[in-house]
Amino acid sequence: MTSYKELGLVNTKEMFAKAVKGGYAIPAFNFNTMEQMQAIVQAAVKTNSPVIMQVSKGARNYANGTILRYMAQGAVEYAKELGCKNPQIVLHLDHGDSFELCKDCIDNGFSSVMIDGSHLPYEENIALTKKVVEYAHAHDVTVEAELGVLAGVEDEVSAEHSTYTKPEEVVDFSTRTGCDSLAISIGTSHGAYKFKPEQCTRNAAGKLVPPPLAFDVLEAIEKQLPGFPIVLHGSSSVPQDEVDTINSNGGKLPDAVGIPEEQLRKASKSAVCKINIDSDSRLAMTAAVRKYFNEHPDHFDPRQYLKPARENMQKMYEHKIIEVLGSNDKL
Ligand code: G3H
Ligand code: 13P
Ligand code: ZN
Repeated sequence: MTSYKELGLVNTKEMFAKAVKGGYAIPAFNFNTMEQMQAIVQAAVKTNSPVIMQVSKGARNYANGTILRYMAQGAVEYAKELGCKNPQIVLHLDHGDSFELCKDCIDNGFSSVMIDGSHLPYEENIALTKKVVEYAHAHDVTVEAELGVLAGVEDEVSAEHSTYTKPEEVVDFSTRTGCDSLAISIGTSHGAYKFKPEQCTRNAAGKLVPPPLAFDVLEAIEKQLPGFPIVLHGSSSVPQDEVDTINSNGGKLPDAVGIPEEQLRKASKSAVCKINIDSDSRLAMTAAVRKYFNEHPDHFDPRQYLKPARENMQKMYEHKIIEVLGSNDKL
């Protein structure tokens, strides 16, 4: 048993309370590689921001759960080395799908877990979430639950049909489960293709303009649960300059489209206090690597092409923190 406290990590409790009160959101960035971890820490330290580093089941399969946990421990030490006196870093399990997986993470140094029972019938979601909450709270670990189903497909996380969260269920769900935060469905989705072209309009330049998020549903949820921490998954904005760089350097991502940043900025000022971003990091990394290979076909040292990839991700993370979520200077 390794407690996250031994690793210098924190849970989300205080962080979320401050974020809800202060009208900003904490960035939750997924990581699978050392370069992502370094870029996240550098961006958080440079901007004086708390940060959630999250690990999906797919990341555990790719990089190994133990390695990722040690990387998070290293992240805390690295932040201090970069001059941050009091790093506020959460190690979070993203989309946990069973009690056993959540328990394994809690027993191995995670400070926060998500139990995603959103695909289950309502009462089963409650029962599973409650079981995880009981175990997690006994170890001072915070729990994110999900109500409502996101659209979209991304590796291990998929949902064919989306349904918005029902505001009339949130009080009953949060009271009976005891969860610390609630992920809701208001029109975001996972991956780089969040909307089908036929769901969008096109601007003068021919680029897709997605439909707006359901802010009325968010407001109704806030009314039911004043001050309760709300989480948005699937919140990459799929920056068109990165997509264009990928496509003009041999890639093929036609009609990739995300959530406009103005809408995420608006959500950050509400009870939404955690915003999940993964795809934008994948795009930033891929764009930099593709460009590098195109410009330097004779290079083959991974450090040569991963350095610009890391720099490009760091730039993106800083932009999100300062311009979109507003979590800068909150340490
Ligand atoms: O919500 C999904 C995250 O982007 C993680 O994706 O399962 O491919 O690691 P992944
Ligand atoms: P994106 O695919 O929009 O980055 O969403 C990531 C996410 O929700 C991780 O849980
Ligand atoms: Zn997600």
